[in-house]
Amino acid sequence: MNKLIIPALALALCGGALVSVIAQDAAKTEATATQPPAAAASEPAAEVLCFESRKDASKTTQRELAPGLPNVRCSPTTSAVLWYGDPYDGTRPMGKMPLLDKIPEGQAVVKPRSEQMMFLAQCATACHNGVIPPGFPKDKRAVPIPTMEAMVPDLKDFQHGRGRIWCLDCHHPTKRNMFVDNYGDTIAFDQPQLLCGKCHGDKLRDWRDGIHGKRIGEFTNTGKKRWFSCPECHNPHNVQDGARNRGFAQLQPEPPPQLPHGMKDAAYEKTPPIPH
Ligand code: HEC
Ligand code: HEC
Ligand code: HEC
Repeated sequence: MNKLIIPALALALCGGALVSVIAQDAAKTEATATQPPAAAASEPAAEVLCFESRKDASKTTQRELAPGLPNVRCSPTTSAVLWYGDPYDGTRPMGKMPLLDKIPEGQAVVKPRSEQMMFLAQCATACHNGVIPPGFPKDKRAVPIPTMEAMVPDLKDFQHGRGRIWCLDCHHPTKRNMFVDNYGDTIAFDQPQLLCGKCHGDKLRDWRDGIHGKRIGEFTNTGKKRWFSCPECHNPHNVQDGARNRGFAQLQPEPPPQLPHGMKDAAYEKTPPIPH
């Protein structure tokens, strides 16, 4: 197992070195906050906020796990996370999932979505607590909800299901800090894949089999992996708006990686080794 981890770590460290070289170049034109905390020992280090897969929805603050080892390194152009010092940092066991019960507890981990939510603490406690707001939706039909639109701007132009689904198809009618399954039972915010899977069974199966979504960690059969859950990539309130690129942020491409030492150009890449 160690044999696998060491080259992976070395590769990852190379990646990190590249990023910091690029970061230094970028610093000339732009005062970036990409300097690793250690570099600014005399001044208080500026907080570096990165995102993992969906902008504004998967925020991660750069910090040091050990001297010189950051939890993440981020792109100076987009702030996207490019490299992980510890792929399991901030993760928790995924919890029970149908057909994944053979994976030992703790080998499949996720980053809890609840920690990224702005309003979850108020849902079902301060608001929607049975008293506030007064009244209760009589059915699941679409109606404008100005208060919610002000809080979550994407809800103003809700784009999911082409007019055939609405809030309470996903959010639990009486327990608003939970999602709702097909039987009216609750699903935790930290297991959104169970919610998406109730309508997108094919995608849930692909995700479970590893052909949709993303995992990082130890790439052996039994290795521990962090799974990215559906809303880490998809904005559930905005999956079908072409103008907004189906909820995916359009990212500026990263600069090409540095050529290995001694190589003058990348012309060799233009000659495929196997003719086709
Ligand atoms: C397709 C399912 C689905 C529908 C329909 C839906 N939501 Fe959501 N909603 C979600 C998911 C999933 C999350 C968690 C998103 C995440 O993890 O990033 C969420 C999160 C939220 C949050 C918490 C945001 C925060 O930052 O704390 C609010 C508020 C919310 N939804 C309101 C609504 C309202 C109001 C409607 C109807 C206009 C609605 N949702 C329709 C799936 C849905
Ligand atoms: C209540 C059922 C329901 C739930 C729950 C649900 N969806 Fe959907 N979703 C739909 C429907 C219906 C469509 C529209 C399909 C169509 O008409 O093209 C759709 C469309 C989509 C699309 C766009 C597909 C396309 O080709 O345009 C994505 C992506 C998507 N959903 C992701 C999710 C994710 C992620 C979740 C969980 C947060 C989720 N859905 C939860 C019903 C649901
Ligand atoms: C690592 C990011 C990532 C994760 C995690 C992820 N998806 Fe996707 N998904 C994508 C991308 C990228 C596409 C392609 C979007 C496009 O073509 O516009 C996609 C497409 C889809 C579509 C539309 C497929 C189609 O035929 O057009 C659905 C539905 C969907 N995903 C549901 C899910 C569900 C449900 C989950 C969780 C079980 C999930 N996704 C997890 C990135 C992700």
